[in-house]
Amino acid sequence: DVSAAVLGLESSCDETAAAVLRADGTILAEAVLSQLEEHAAFGGVVPEIAARAHLEHLPRLAARVVAEAGLGFGDLAGIAATSGPGLIGGLIVGASLGKGLAIAHGLPFVAVNHLEAHALTATLPGLVEGGARFPYLLLLLSGGHCQCVAVEGVGRYRRLGTTLDDAVGEAFDKSAKLLGLPWPGGPALERLAALGDPARHKLPRPLFGRAGCDFSFSGLKTAVAHAVAKHPPGALPAQDRADLAAGFQASVAAVLADRGRHALDMLPGATALVVAGGVAANAAIRAALGRVAAERGLPLVAPPIRLCTDNAVMVAWAGIERLRRGLTDPLGHAPRPRWPL
Ligand code: KG4
Ligand code: ZN
Repeated sequence: DVSAAVLGLESSCDETAAAVLRADGTILAEAVLSQLEEHAAFGGVVPEIAARAHLEHLPRLAARVVAEAGLGFGDLAGIAATSGPGLIGGLIVGASLGKGLAIAHGLPFVAVNHLEAHALTATLPGLVEGGARFPYLLLLLSGGHCQCVAVEGVGRYRRLGTTLDDAVGEAFDKSAKLLGLPWPGGPALERLAALGDPARHKLPRPLFGRAGCDFSFSGLKTAVAHAVAKHPPGALPAQDRADLAAGFQASVAAVLADRGRHALDMLPGATALVVAGGVAANAAIRAALGRVAAERGLPLVAPPIRLCTDNAVMVAWAGIERLRRGLTDPLGHAPRPRWPL
């Protein structure tokens, strides 16, 4: 039934989000509240503050999107809530709200894996003509995750490679901090990089050209730290800052392109190269991956930025795909802070 609608809830990190989707993928309503301001003073996400903020805002957001969709909770076909991986406090808030609504309205509950939700976003029919087709190669590039995944169907994922140390978004955030930029550093570093010369500092490209598609970023971050340390604290000239930012971003883009090529070699039937996660918002990285896809005659599927970063549309969509297959979860399902795909 294409008119059946599902409520999705997301609360695994620092975005509080709710959305209602129709089974055909039509987005009826969506809302995201970012907690950036709550955490900025601490230079990163504080789990306790995040959980309390989800508790304060998620119920209201859920009621709002259901009303905006022109529905009541009882009209829904199911409730999908991110149940891992992520920060346990937030996961408990979202999963418990989802289960409570499911009990109150006699609806099925779906415990959604946040990584699966990112992975399936590309199959949303409105995104690509009819949605991406399986199998495709997913590069999941966020602050907490950095993986190459072969997406072969709903529930059929093969991790081809992952990071040996930092996630790519984490590398952006740490390098940005070294350059004196505010958290979260990714967007600020990208803006600074636009003013710099990427060729001025020779920065490492960890694992470039190596077999497989694992990642490593800590050496690159350390190289930035060494370059910064050549100057007295706080006295890095403005042009050096910009050149370092540009060099860092160029190294990351080159490494991601190289890893993407290797990953595509590992999935010969791939129909598309898909990027997801907050780092996919970076224009230089999108461009580098676009060239890799073009070399292979494949489309680069990069969801709009609001669907790349954490959101509830992807959670509702993963819920719909699971419900379609009769994959619901018991009310005793425990949220899982660690939950590999
Ligand atoms: O997917 P996301 O919103 O949250 C999770 O980590 O799950 O990703 C956030 C990460 C942060 O590390 C942020 O600095 C990075 O994505 N990011 C960027 C850009 N926008 C966000 N990194 C590089 N360039 C950007 N424009
Ligand atoms: Zn995420």
